[in-house]
Amino acid sequence: MPTTQQPVAIITGASSGIGLGVTQALLERGWRVVATSRTISKSKELKPSPDLVLVDGEVSKKETAIKVTEAESSISAGSICWLTTLGFLFPSRSSTTPRTTTI
Ligand SMILES: NC(=O)c1ccc[n+]([C@@H]2O[C@H](COP(=O)([O-])OP(=O)(O)OC[C@H]3O[C@@H](n4cnc5c(N)ncnc54)[C@H](OP(=O)(O)O)[C@@H]3O)[C@@H](O)[C@H]2O)c1
Repeated sequence: MPTTQQPVAIITGASSGIGLGVTQALLERGWRVVATSRTISKSKELKPSPDLVLVDGEVSKKETAIKVTEAESSISAGSICWLTTLGFLFPSRSSTTPRTTTI
């Protein structure tokens, strides 16, 4: 059962490679994840669940940033962890409270 105590991560480039591996590893460890890429809703490996929100979008577009932060707000009550595998970060409320997390 998901709780607001679960740590939350936003992963860009989550449909394959490093992003997919980290997404799967975090889910196995009890995290909630907002996973995004241009085609992530077509992923054979990742299926939406209470712990996993999939957001399709071009990472450089403002509308993707809005969709991702709205999804994050819907599942997170506290601080979050960002992992970007594409060298691009959206500004969000998390940027005002940076901290490192050991995974
Ligand atoms: N793997 C390595 O050993 C390694 C080593 C050093 C550096 N890197 C670098 O680390 C990064 C990730 O590597 P990877 O091996 O995980 O790559 P990958 O398997 O090709 O994964 C790239 C991910 O980014 C998404 N993506 C690509 N362009 C996008 C865009 N414009 N907007 C939104 N999402 C986009 C792709 O999904 P969609 O197609 O669905 O958008 C996919 O989920 C790359 O920049 C790579 O050069 C990798």
